[in-house]
Amino acid sequence: MIIASNFKTNHTRISTKEFLEKIPQTPLQIRIFPPFTTFDNYNLPKNTLLGAQNFYPVENGAFTGEIGKEQLDEFGLNCVLIGHSERRNVLNEAESLIIEKFNFAKKCGWEIIYCVGEPINIREEGEAAVNEYLKKQLEKIDLNYEKLIIAYEPVWAIGTGLSATLEQIKATHSEIKKLSRAPLLYGGSVNVDTILNIVNLNECDGVLIGSASWKIEPFLKMIEIVNNNEKGVI
Ligand code: PGA
Repeated sequence: MIIASNFKTNHTRISTKEFLEKIPQTPLQIRIFPPFTTFDNYNLPKNTLLGAQNFYPVENGAFTGEIGKEQLDEFGLNCVLIGHSERRNVLNEAESLIIEKFNFAKKCGWEIIYCVGEPINIREEGEAAVNEYLKKQLEKIDLNYEKLIIAYEPVWAIGTGLSATLEQIKATHSEIKKLSRAPLLYGGSVNVDTILNIVNLNECDGVLIGSASWKIEPFLKMIEIVNNNEKGVI
């Protein structure tokens, strides 16, 4: 079971260090995506990895403001987020760059959490439209890549406090599982009250959490809930 936390543009070097020091050793696979400026050589529990929220698909070069492989290698980072809806929709990252990033990360052998999800107008059209939309988001990447993790994150559920229902997650997950056997996460307003039912869904292999994971107490609580759950270890 995978529990991933996306800090987004939150936390400093000091608060990240304090946060990471409190992560317990558990059988869960924990992934933390803090801001670049907080990277350091931390002593993390087994199964806990730091990842990059973003990168530019180059070793190094003249790309002002970007971070390439050389910079991630310095911290031993080999886990990345690609296709997050804030990168797609707020930072206007083009689908072509997202695919390029996927191919680069695959060539590097990195673990990839690849985010997909439909906007509200597509969800309102119904399940067939959602499935078609997600299929298009997934069709240009190698769905058999062995270090691929897919995160289903409906755009309308991210940071809104409005989670997809269990039925919606279940139906969408089972469509995605027809396309890929990669571990499958759900993300979008997951919190201490909702996490248990979500991870208990048959085809759910974990969660990608934003806002509810930014304070250490609820994050530890969610780890505890999943860890104490019978389905907790895969
Ligand atoms: P949220 O963010 O938990 O705040 O909805 C999830 C995400 O952006 O991955």
